[in-house]
Amino acid sequence: MADRYSQLNGAFYGPAIPPTTEQRRSSYHNDRSCCGSLFSIFWKIVVALAILFAIIIVIFYLIVQPRAFKFYVTKAQLTQFDYTNNTLHYNMVLNFTARNPNKKLGIYYDDVEARAFYEGSRFAIVDVITFKNSFRQDKKRSDPMSGVFIGQQFLMLNNDQVSEFNKDTILGVYDIRVKLYFRIRFKLGDSISSNYKPKVKCDISIPLNSSNATVIFNRIVPNKCRVEL
Ligand SMILES: *[C@@H]1O[C@H](CO)[C@@H](O)[C@H](O)[C@H]1NC(C)=O
Ligand SMILES: *[C@@H]1O[C@H](CO)[C@@H](O)[C@H](O)[C@H]1NC(C)=O
Ligand SMILES: *[C@@H]1O[C@H](CO)[C@@H](O)[C@H](O)[C@H]1NC(C)=O
Ligand SMILES: *[C@@H]1O[C@H](CO)[C@@H](O)[C@H](O)[C@H]1NC(C)=O
Repeated sequence: MADRYSQLNGAFYGPAIPPTTEQRRSSYHNDRSCCGSLFSIFWKIVVALAILFAIIIVIFYLIVQPRAFKFYVTKAQLTQFDYTNNTLHYNMVLNFTARNPNKKLGIYYDDVEARAFYEGSRFAIVDVITFKNSFRQDKKRSDPMSGVFIGQQFLMLNNDQVSEFNKDTILGVYDIRVKLYFRIRFKLGDSISSNYKPKVKCDISIPLNSSNATVIFNRIVPNKCRVEL
């Protein structure tokens, strides 16, 4: 009786009534003895594969140690930043350095777009990789990139923002946020990953070239940006 009950229980039928301690004990012994059943073998294979898979992933991460690239502003030049008649005239050249800190992975930079903001308003969108679209950066290497922002943009700054602009103008230093949108792939040996789309945020206080603050700024670069993979 106990045997039949536990056989059912050992398969996929739940107990209709809670087993007594005695039944449970006998069911336990019975499970051990019926380990040859297909279901039990199947279950063990699944568990073993899951554990193997987890171990492979852990080993992969330990060996490869994948990391995002590092990104810096190395030079910033602002030669025009005028706001009149709700229009911003700007001329800003930013030089960046992208560094691949990985020991095993190369990085393909396929596409990089930079958006510049002042007081929360976007005033420019430019392509950062223009000289050679898509390039590969080998492990432990650094490469320069640059963004040239020149033009004019209609901007509706409110009174607070305009007074902020006037304060910045007196100082000769403007707080500019640049967001960069990347499309990259990782390379491990001969295999290449699918696309990743990291975002990078750089907050920079850039002096107008004619202001004395240039001296101070040049001492604080390189300015590290925040990379979100
Ligand atoms: C701003 O607009 C006014 C009126 O339209 C015009 O007279 C003035 O020249 C403009 N200023 C600039 C710097 O464009
Ligand atoms: C900065 O970027 C500009 C524009 O691409 C480039 O002409 C210039 O050589 C770069 N400067 C440095 C120091 O990399
Ligand atoms: C700032 O840049 C502008 C435009 O390139 C130039 O005319 C001006 O002479 C520069 N001023 C200084 C102090 O370098
Ligand atoms: C820059 O500094 C010099 C000397 O320290 C000073 O004469 C000049 O007025 C300053 N210029 C600005 C724009 O603050």
